[in-house]
Amino acid sequence: MSDVQQLSTKHILGIKYLKASDIQLIFETADNFKEVLNRPVKKVPSLRDVTIANLFFENSTRTKLSFELAEKRLSADVVNFSASSSSVKKGETLLDTVNNILAMKVDMVVMRHPSPGAHHFLSQHIDVNIINAGDGTHEHPTQALLDAFSMREQLGDLKGKKIVIVGDILHSRVALSNIFCLQKLGAKVKVCGPPTLIPRYIQSLGVEVEYNIRKALEWCDVANLLRIQLERQDLKYFPSLREYAQYFGVNKPLLDSLDKKIVIMHPGPMNRGVEITSDVADSEHSIILQQVENGVAVRMAVLYLLAAKR
Ligand code: CP
Repeated sequence: MSDVQQLSTKHILGIKYLKASDIQLIFETADNFKEVLNRPVKKVPSLRDVTIANLFFENSTRTKLSFELAEKRLSADVVNFSASSSSVKKGETLLDTVNNILAMKVDMVVMRHPSPGAHHFLSQHIDVNIINAGDGTHEHPTQALLDAFSMREQLGDLKGKKIVIVGDILHSRVALSNIFCLQKLGAKVKVCGPPTLIPRYIQSLGVEVEYNIRKALEWCDVANLLRIQLERQDLKYFPSLREYAQYFGVNKPLLDSLDKKIVIMHPGPMNRGVEITSDVADSEHSIILQQVENGVAVRMAVLYLLAAKR
């Protein structure tokens, strides 16, 4: 992997700012890293001279561990920061926190932050590569990249493929990044969920809305099921989780009643028994753990390609 093709951008702030050719380059690079990850020795020296800070101002299991593993597999030096145990609790600003970390000679920042646009703000004030690991309800670009990479493994070229995103679209950064990513790759995207959880602007993005889960599943090749984000909801958007599960949850009898086999995805964390039943999550339809596996290769690709832009 010595002849590095270049991304068109020095940051990954959102899928909105990537070209289709950037996404294809990330996928081709991730294909190579996936092969590396299946070797007995899973490590390459590509980022031996690079120091990366993982700044998490919000909770994470998958994204945080996946980035850290990707960085270590590339031989980068890694420092981890968690806001809950930091001087943010004493009132230090985001910019002061980041500038103090950068003073320790850090080359790249991976950040999750609850405020939409936090990464844009930082990119205007600091000179290192920034990767958005989720900014509030705005974007989660590496999740969308690993989701599309996983769909591509199942279906091949995504041009013309039909993807439905089901659930709490209003509060989901995964939904928005998936919509941008899938459309750039030529896929058709619908969303499905209660009207109160579908943002009004969605049709202006070229996305159709389907309120009937059966019709949505009959239409699609892939259903990406999202969690109800109760922690971001300040209003009551539907009567009860039980009712949500009844009208929008995906269960095995519903899947088995379709006249075709569809792929089931979920970015995690799952609420079993709400948006997905266990017999679906653990079924042969589900590629949920393949998504997690692919996340490491996709994030290795993103880090490797951004390092070439330093
Ligand atoms: N998919 C995802 O972002 O999971 P985490 O919140 O655990 O990182």
